[in-house]
Amino acid sequence: MAGNKTFTMIKPDAVENGHIGAILEKINAAGFRIVAMTMTQLSVKQAGKFYEVHRERPFFGELVNYMTSGPIVAAILEKDNAVEDFRTLIGATDPQKAEEGTIRKLYATSIAANAIHGSDSDENAVIEGNFFFSQRDRF
Ligand code: CMP
Repeated sequence: MAGNKTFTMIKPDAVENGHIGAILEKINAAGFRIVAMTMTQLSVKQAGKFYEVHRERPFFGELVNYMTSGPIVAAILEKDNAVEDFRTLIGATDPQKAEEGTIRKLYATSIAANAIHGSDSDENAVIEGNFFFSQRDRF
């Protein structure tokens, strides 16, 4: 059965460009409840750990560079079928391939600076949520 939680980050480009409010509004309008949220800036060490699975990819250096370039907003979201529904809401990784009306289509600038992250599985939603939040941060 699909889980009811996912993890998201509003990435440095979207924060820098003033899109936090608009993105959170779309997330709420799509029926997600925010159960934990923080604004922070990742260190190179933290970003490397978060994106460990991508370490061997050619874009890893660019990814870490970018994700540490400014503040991000991290959150745990709750809704039935959260992981799949959230990935539909944000659109394809490459904003040029993202559906009209999706968060990446509206706010992303490139495949690297793609505005927002969404967990790709229930298992990763738990791992990623635990990376940023302890139990007492969750409401
Ligand atoms: P996300 O799916 O949130 O997590 C992995 C990130 O790696 C992805 O978003 C993009 O920001 C980045 N990424 C994926 N593919 C590429 C690529 N070809 N070039 C640069 N960055 C990429």
